Amino acid sequence: MRIARTLAEFRQASTELLSAFDQPSFGLVPTMGALHAGHAELVRAAVAAESVVAASIFVNPLQFGDPADLERYPRTLEADVELLESAGATLVFAPSQQEMYPGGEPMVRVSAGSLGTVFEGASRPGHFDGALTVVAKLLHAGTPQSAGYRAYFGQKDAQQLALVRRMVLDLNFPVQIVGVPTVRSAEGLALSSRNRFLSTAEAGAALVLSRALRLLAERAARHEALDIDSAAALINSEPLVDLDYLEVVDPLSFAPLAAERRETPFTGSALALVAAKVGPVRLIDNIPLGSAG
Ligand code: PAF
Repeated sequence: MRIARTLAEFRQASTELLSAFDQPSFGLVPTMGALHAGHAELVRAAVAAESVVAASIFVNPLQFGDPADLERYPRTLEADVELLESAGATLVFAPSQQEMYPGGEPMVRVSAGSLGTVFEGASRPGHFDGALTVVAKLLHAGTPQSAGYRAYFGQKDAQQLALVRRMVLDLNFPVQIVGVPTVRSAEGLALSSRNRFLSTAEAGAALVLSRALRLLAERAARHEALDIDSAAALINSEPLVDLDYLEVVDPLSFAPLAAERRETPFTGSALALVAAKVGPVRLIDNIPLGSAG
């Protein structure tokens, strides 16, 4: 029986084990360890039906409300591995917490909905959200890899792209996300399906958005203070444009830059975001700053 500690090892081992069969099928038995005869029965049922059976052992902190309960949960890896082997499992996936949650506490989670709030869910708030989140991750982890699977998203919708990346990270979707740079008109307006609703005057006025972003990018490149207020003033000087926000944020968390980083010579990386109503159309745009650019 093979033991995989990382997602990469798990995928490689399952692919190799499956390749020995003409009509392979894969059975996954998720557990939190501390195994007993009931678990052995799960494994035996899987072994009877599938060509390759893997069990996962991971004590999932997300489904424990009380830290003391998580601390005291039994960890018996050696005995668990013996039980799984004698029940006929061919692969064990025993990842670390860092391997399962490399970005720390997942920002994006599965919600168990109303069924997750009654009976056990009523006495253990959040328990089923945590359990479903890790099960989703394990199911993705167990999916035999199809080579070269990628999905492409525009960088113009920066927040959407960040959330999709984060979901794929948090929930182990077996796909690589590729961000494609924003395409702009010759004058700098970010292309959008909504631009067709702009009059000629509004399309001209909208250019102030990319101009303000470029101003911030140039200051960042020269390691000057960003002076976001003056970039906002540039946008506000255009009467056809109603600014919603102009903000500089961390490119991963989208947390606004702390005051000292906004006001002192710029270093590192950040993302400048803008949203505004131009005539009837809400437009968004963004530009990477510093080493994010
Ligand atoms: O039932 C369990 O052991 C756990 O809730 C599960 C399904 C392995 C998720 O951590």
